[in-house]
Amino acid sequence: MAALPETQTAIQLSAFGIDNIVVAQVPLPTPGAGEVLVRINVRPVNPSDVFSVVGVYPGFKPKGFPAVPGLEGVGEVAALGPGSSGRLSVGQRVVATNWRSASEGRGTWQQYVTVPEENLVPVPDDLPDEAACQALINPVPVIGMLQELATPKDDYIIITAAGSALGRMAIRYAKHIGVRVVATCRRPEQVDELRAAGADEAVVLGADGDALASRVSELTGGRGAWGALDSIAGSSPAKIAPAVRAGGTIIVYGAMASPNIDWNVGQCLFRVVTLKGFWLVPWLDAKPVEEQRDVIATVLEHMRSGLLPPMTVDVRPLEEAAAALRDQAIEGRPAKLVLRG
Ligand SMILES: NC(=O)c1ccc[n+]([C@@H]2O[C@H](COP(=O)([O-])OP(=O)(O)OC[C@H]3O[C@@H](n4cnc5c(N)ncnc54)[C@H](OP(=O)(O)O)[C@@H]3O)[C@@H](O)[C@H]2O)c1
Repeated sequence: MAALPETQTAIQLSAFGIDNIVVAQVPLPTPGAGEVLVRINVRPVNPSDVFSVVGVYPGFKPKGFPAVPGLEGVGEVAALGPGSSGRLSVGQRVVATNWRSASEGRGTWQQYVTVPEENLVPVPDDLPDEAACQALINPVPVIGMLQELATPKDDYIIITAAGSALGRMAIRYAKHIGVRVVATCRRPEQVDELRAAGADEAVVLGADGDALASRVSELTGGRGAWGALDSIAGSSPAKIAPAVRAGGTIIVYGAMASPNIDWNVGQCLFRVVTLKGFWLVPWLDAKPVEEQRDVIATVLEHMRSGLLPPMTVDVRPLEEAAAALRDQAIEGRPAKLVLRG
């Protein structure tokens, strides 16, 4: 292993806002007892990074500025702190169940971070960095939300904005556990793509949910879908609720359109459709750390087998993080942006 450099490149926020990003050279952190210094090689640009940078993501609460964003990534062990267990060795590729310092503003959009050794999981040699860097934030909710919905075999669920990286994984994983999927998207040209990605049906979710409700009714013999996964919020839950059966559940796990939800009292009062949230952080944190590592190790295996297919990537240099954050908002963006460097 080459000697460690004295400084590293870091994407720093001098305050919240994309315009406040600077590329800085800063000292490397030193791993404390039970910690590992990880050289991050690739990290994705997720919607949660955009929300972090603009200051509205509860998982990114810097203790002060400058702060470094970035909530996941893949890297290699650069040094072991005192009291290492011997489970990991220098040079080994790793991802984390939790990049502990990221929530405090020392995230993965820099080259070196310290992480508690217990949070690290080795990456299989044949899984490329561009896939492994996506192992935490999107796949974990897929597993968690499908467990929470507990859909009976062969029953239908609705997944909105299903062309997202997470949506595509959810389609494939639902199929694996015997659940049928009606996918929705906002662009007609994506309908065939979603069917090809494994959705049993795909529908454009337009100004109202009528086309969705009538297609789901046909498919389910009038019963409606067992439940739904929604990442749009705003008017989306109220639009999809008529396609969900009475007593069903809509899990809202994202807010691509709005931080607010226009819910419908008739759906919750007379049809008892439940609206609930899901966030991967408390779901994963509630498990003992060994189980958290097992979840991530399972995700990595499923990524290899194609059961949780990582999104194709558009690789940008780490230094171009601000431009990548702006490009994240492009409608119809065909690949997940990742930062290498
Ligand atoms: N709760 C959790 O624990 C958790 C964890 C991970 C991710 N998430 C959420 O999951 C969602 C997907 O994440 P990702 O990384 O998979 O995203 P992604 O790959 O960047 O995809 C975003 C998707 O959202 C669609 N979209 C964007 N704005 C929209 C709008 N106003 N109305 C309808 N569709 C819209 C895009 O459609 P086009 O293709 O048409 O542009 C695209 O399909 C995000 O909302 C993210 O915050 C939540």
